[in-house]
Amino acid sequence: MDISVVGAGHVGLVTGACFADLGHQVVVVDNDAKRIANLQRGVMPYYEPGLEELVARGVRESRLSFTTSIREAVVKSTILFIAVGTPQKATGEADLTYVENVARSIAQHLPGYRLVVEKSTVPVQTGQWVHHTIKTYLKRKHPFDVASNPEFLREGTAIQDFMKPDRVVLGVETKRAADLLTKLYKPLGVPLVLTDIRSAELIKHASNSFLAMKISFINAVAQVCERSGADVQQVADGMGLDPRIGRSFLSAGVGWGGFCFPKDVEAFIKISEQLGYDFELLKAVRNINEQQKRGFAAKIQRALWVVKGKTIGVLGLAFKPNTDDMRYAPAIDIIEYLQGEGARIKAFDPQAMGEAKRLLPRVTLCQDPYEAARGADCLAVLTDWNEFKELDFRRLKKLLRQPLIVDGRNVYDPKRLEALGFRYIGVGRGRGETH
Ligand code: UGA
Repeated sequence: MDISVVGAGHVGLVTGACFADLGHQVVVVDNDAKRIANLQRGVMPYYEPGLEELVARGVRESRLSFTTSIREAVVKSTILFIAVGTPQKATGEADLTYVENVARSIAQHLPGYRLVVEKSTVPVQTGQWVHHTIKTYLKRKHPFDVASNPEFLREGTAIQDFMKPDRVVLGVETKRAADLLTKLYKPLGVPLVLTDIRSAELIKHASNSFLAMKISFINAVAQVCERSGADVQQVADGMGLDPRIGRSFLSAGVGWGGFCFPKDVEAFIKISEQLGYDFELLKAVRNINEQQKRGFAAKIQRALWVVKGKTIGVLGLAFKPNTDDMRYAPAIDIIEYLQGEGARIKAFDPQAMGEAKRLLPRVTLCQDPYEAARGADCLAVLTDWNEFKELDFRRLKKLLRQPLIVDGRNVYDPKRLEALGFRYIGVGRGRGETH
């Protein structure tokens, strides 16, 4: 099939590269000329495991190409995916300017029937606006359909999530659209969920908000654990074995971040409000997350007594492992809070150092975890990268000014670190708060 993907971001580029790998003819279009020129030279705009190889294969085998011309994409392809950004406005609602612009451009160049598929995360009822916009700006009266196909991939595991999703949601309202998308996705051999467009849009907002709610819930339970002497890991393991609950997304930590959960929870609160419903539960989910970040910084402060003039070594800056993405990363809030209190921060992240240089100019960036620990009064773990799990703790202990580890992702076994002579503080591990 001939497919175009508009927007070469985390979702668009992976979608394009994966469809090309499945044998389709794919054009990826983006109005960022530098990004497109780089992609044509094989340079990725962000780090995602396996993506570079997948893109290279698609280009080498002439199934994948990149352009800045939306006209070219519209002319060449029957199915057009809109995967542009829907950032957060100051008011919290989703900014749909890019989606609207793409819908208008598509209308202007439509040479015959096209299926326009929303892949960006959008508020419910966006589909009807996309339809209205295309109809309004259409130059010639060609037929077209609009569909919604929300994406559930996660950064860091994007390719396997795309190729082997738990389900594919297809919001379709004509037989032609249903047939085209069913044919496209059938080879994946996973459940296809056919719904109307509004329900598909809602499935995405509701899913992300539910996952954020799970994390905020366990972070709230972690607070009770700290105050009662229980261990949140054990609580989550015990709860998670109930299949109605499930263990995933029940890991307490420094709070959720990234470009999806914070903006989608906010946008879901906002669209609900516009529709006349006060989604109080989601407001609490968001507030718990804000408290979690602040509370972690305060925990370091308590452990050090006076923060001013102290050096804090930080392991992990990205909002989660296997990505260089620092958008809405809890590390930013935590570091800025500690800097505000007069701390000096040294940090290491396996992938996010480029981003960190831009976003946190006052942080001393280090070559490895040991460098970050050298001369620090405390070592704080903010991202659960695998490579932090097994470190040379004897060496770390010698490098630190005091053997204090504040583990924001519960990566380490408290007993093991205490046996090695560390003072260990985790999240929701009541016993760890003792001095
Ligand atoms: C999330 C969803 O998981 C995807 O299904 C969705 O497609 C994507 O948003 C999107 O809308 O584009 P992602 O933002 O890549 O994916 O990251 P997650 O793996 O969901 O993690 C989000 C945050 O929650 C991270 O900061 C992570 O550290 C945190 N988290 C996750 C926890 O604190 N505890 C957990 O148990 C799980």
